[in-house]
Amino acid sequence: MKVITVIASPRKYGNCSTIVKEMTKGIQENKGENTIYYVDDMNIKPCQGCKACRNPKKPSKCIINDDFRKVMDEMEKSDALIFAAPNYFGEINAQGHIFMDRFYSMTKSTPNQLKGNKKAVIIFTYGAKTGTYDEYIQKRTRLFESIGLKVHEILSVGDGKPLSGNSEELLERARQIGREISVKRNDEEYEIIRILRSKDRVLKAEIMSDELKKKITKLEMKRLDEMVPLINKGLKQALDEKEAITVVIDNTDVDVSIEDYTPSLTLQSNKGTIIGEEIYDPNELEELKHNPNVYFISDYFATYPNLSVPGEKQFFVVSELEGELDYEDELKNSVNRMVISSPSTEADHYIKKILNIPQKEKITTLIIGFTE
Ligand SMILES: Cc1cc2nc3c(=O)[nH]c(=O)nc-3n(C[C@H](O)[C@H](O)[C@H](O)COP(=O)(O)O)c2cc1C
Repeated sequence: MKVITVIASPRKYGNCSTIVKEMTKGIQENKGENTIYYVDDMNIKPCQGCKACRNPKKPSKCIINDDFRKVMDEMEKSDALIFAAPNYFGEINAQGHIFMDRFYSMTKSTPNQLKGNKKAVIIFTYGAKTGTYDEYIQKRTRLFESIGLKVHEILSVGDGKPLSGNSEELLERARQIGREISVKRNDEEYEIIRILRSKDRVLKAEIMSDELKKKITKLEMKRLDEMVPLINKGLKQALDEKEAITVVIDNTDVDVSIEDYTPSLTLQSNKGTIIGEEIYDPNELEELKHNPNVYFISDYFATYPNLSVPGEKQFFVVSELEGELDYEDELKNSVNRMVISSPSTEADHYIKKILNIPQKEKITTLIIGFTE
């Protein structure tokens, strides 16, 4: 479980920071991690009102390329956001306002609203009696909902606590909230898993443990030692996403025509030149087979020897698979980001072995990385 915290107070040892420190303990008890950012330490501009994020023709992410973008890119990969701000003159302080200003680029009128029911915890501390600003902070909290977060709890903390007065109960509550937002989810809570498991030929769809990810990475690394090394770029991209799923699909009764294959393997030089590629389009194949500058190393793999420069290193690159599954769009719509990849033969065998699946060629394994 990954949590991002944004602290709007400039005080590193103040009330907001102290509460966050206790929450972090609760998160860590569940083996989760909390990354803390102070607005004051970052370069974040307020919204410039340019509306590029809601341009009807080509809506974009916020075009101000500063630390807000970095934090929100991290947020996309996280499960929860903790936002802690002090009250200055009856309101969230200036740093807090600057940060929240930029939520404009993430509401549902933009393509950037957060998906996956991520949780939010709002901490608001002040000197007046506890409860004085409940109504105010409740209203401001709507902005967090507008960017797709589900508010788990608002901690409205007055009386200068926790630094002044007995705050043991408050700190215990903070630790408990940390535990609550970091409990590990079971598989069925991921919509993408539910979709996959509802499909006819899908035999298995399982969230990968960190151990399994490491093992698969190790197996793929072996391919780097081959005479022409093979880099599984698609798989690396999939495993770089927040979660990954091993998917096993039974194609035994399906007649897949060669034309339906999606090319994913290329031969490249260290300069990035494509020296060879898979071709499945029959017209293109026909044309290339008559081209004297093209040499086929297998039925569907064309190489272009003219482009090969002596001394340049060559390697095979497997990229992510696109258009592989009929229901790819449905899967994509259930998450923020998704990468479909194909493991190498050895990794495929290993996955089948641990999932107790027969080692048949027509049973395919895929690794789908995703970030909700
Ligand atoms: C400039 C400034 C203005 C403040 N205004 C208010 C206020 O209007 N109402 C209030 O209850 N507390 C006010 N406070 C007190 C802070 O909200 C309180 O000490 C808070 O817990 C500080 O959080 P921190 O320790 O995380 O920085 C103010 C403090 C400062 C520095």
